[in-house]
Amino acid sequence: MKLVIEGVSKQYAGGLWGLRDLRMEIGPGVVGLLGPNGAGKSTLMRILATVTRPSEGRVLWNDADIARTPDPLRSVLGYLPQDFGVYPHLTAREFLEYLAAAKGLDAASARRRIDELLGVVNLSEVRERALGGFSGGMKQRVGIAQALLNDPQLLIVDEPTAGLDPEERVRFRNLLSELSGERIVILSTHIVSDVEAIATDIAILSGGRLLAHAAPEELLRTVEGRVWEWVISSAELPAARQQFQISGSVRRGDGVHVRVVAAQRPGPHAVAVAPSLEDAYLNCISMQRASAAGVER
Ligand SMILES: Nc1ncnc2c1ncn2[C@@H]1O[C@H](COP(=O)(O)OP(=O)(O)OP(=O)(O)O)[C@@H](O)[C@H]1O
Ligand SMILES: [Mg+2]
Repeated sequence: MKLVIEGVSKQYAGGLWGLRDLRMEIGPGVVGLLGPNGAGKSTLMRILATVTRPSEGRVLWNDADIARTPDPLRSVLGYLPQDFGVYPHLTAREFLEYLAAAKGLDAASARRRIDELLGVVNLSEVRERALGGFSGGMKQRVGIAQALLNDPQLLIVDEPTAGLDPEERVRFRNLLSELSGERIVILSTHIVSDVEAIATDIAILSGGRLLAHAAPEELLRTVEGRVWEWVISSAELPAARQQFQISGSVRRGDGVHVRVVAAQRPGPHAVAVAPSLEDAYLNCISMQRASAAGVER
């Protein structure tokens, strides 16, 4: 099972490039797709889900071009788009039955699977309620359930945890890590901690380009020994923001605890701390911005 992205670019009407010359290979495991707003994450996921085509380059699913022969990929695909919508007059159960039929599942096994999935996303009790009355997070969980209907070998979920409360986010994380068997999961998020524990690979996109594609441990190594914390007063915070790349600041009784990525100890009171994936991500993005600014000058 292999997904190969060969020099894929996507140009939208109006000339804007959503993706530029993307190259990557994805095998079984969980890929966490990170990147700022407009980075190209959804564009990439739409191309992989065969709902849009690349302007240049191609994507191979088990060696076949998905633009020419989309069916082998589509038959094993589960996809949750970022702008997932529901039919408000259908109940959760009816909606999932409708999609299961559209995916070609037979009625009896669809019913079993739907029962199971409603439990998995914690919606069993509201299964007979119309979706129009669901909260944003509840609709999102219906979206997660529909993506899993056909037990997909390729699961593409675009910001699946958006709108989920902390408890449901943990439930979703557990669900992904419990998915058994060989499969490829591609998940985009702005909450780095959502993928920190479950991703086997992290891909960082920015401005339509791939900045990094590596195991989380490898990304952590890029900031190893370069993350520092110390306490400053609130009044000193603006100056510190000017001077350092601050990856976090927490107000506590004794002042503001700032977290900084810097090659050298940023001050006499700074203590080296263990890096997080978020530090590595922010560092990757800010290095790219600095080098892009350097090129422009
Ligand atoms: N249908 C479209 N028509 C024109 N431009 C688009 C379209 N969809 C996306 N774009 C542009 O392509 C770029 C990448 O957008 P994309 O939605 O893939 O980013 P993203 O990483 O998913 O962002 P977000 O984190 O906000 O979801 C952006 O500059 C966006 O404006
Ligand atoms: Mg998006």
